Amino acid sequence: MNQESLNLNRNSFGNPQNAGNAMSNEEALALLDEWVKNEKLKVHMLQVGHLMKKFAQSKNYPDEVQHLWYLAGLLHDADWDQWPDQHCKKIIEELESRNLDPGMIRAIASHGPRYFGVEPESEMDKMLYAFDELSGFVHAYSLMRPTGYEGMEVKGVKKRLKDKTFAAQVSREDIQDASQRAAIPVEDLIQFVITHQITALE
Ligand SMILES: [Fe+2]
Ligand SMILES: [Fe+2]
Repeated sequence: MNQESLNLNRNSFGNPQNAGNAMSNEEALALLDEWVKNEKLKVHMLQVGHLMKKFAQSKNYPDEVQHLWYLAGLLHDADWDQWPDQHCKKIIEELESRNLDPGMIRAIASHGPRYFGVEPESEMDKMLYAFDELSGFVHAYSLMRPTGYEGMEVKGVKKRLKDKTFAAQVSREDIQDASQRAAIPVEDLIQFVITHQITALE
């Protein structure tokens, strides 16, 4: 994938007047079902949505805010399955056309700064970027462990991170970069993912 081609070439997303506007969980899952046929990708999006919600919950944010965090995670890769060359332009435009919360849309737009050219700024932006690669990595690790998530430890994940041949498509550079931007040590992020990751479609 040519990195340049996914650059969004803009830095403003959604309309400030739509702050707080959310989709219901049912609407979001319907969009997911319509756009995403790949079950593995669906699991990834549900996992990231769940982690985002749990993180917002750990900060005692109000339910409406937790839901926006969840939606950002749940929908961040919605267009990747059918329109990879328009990732994440297409989902952003869809959410803008539905007059949804600009902060949630911006978080999606900044989940891959190297690709989309949008810097993660808010806490929601930074956490989506941080959980995205790490969630997938920890899940890949769980699939190769005989006991899955059971008994998984941070040090085991870190060992796999050092092994460049394991889940080679996961950028270690992005994981480090995201941890620095979020100002949360990678170890703590890994522990959070191990603790809260859902393991399959629920
Ligand atoms: Fe993505
Ligand atoms: Fe993702």
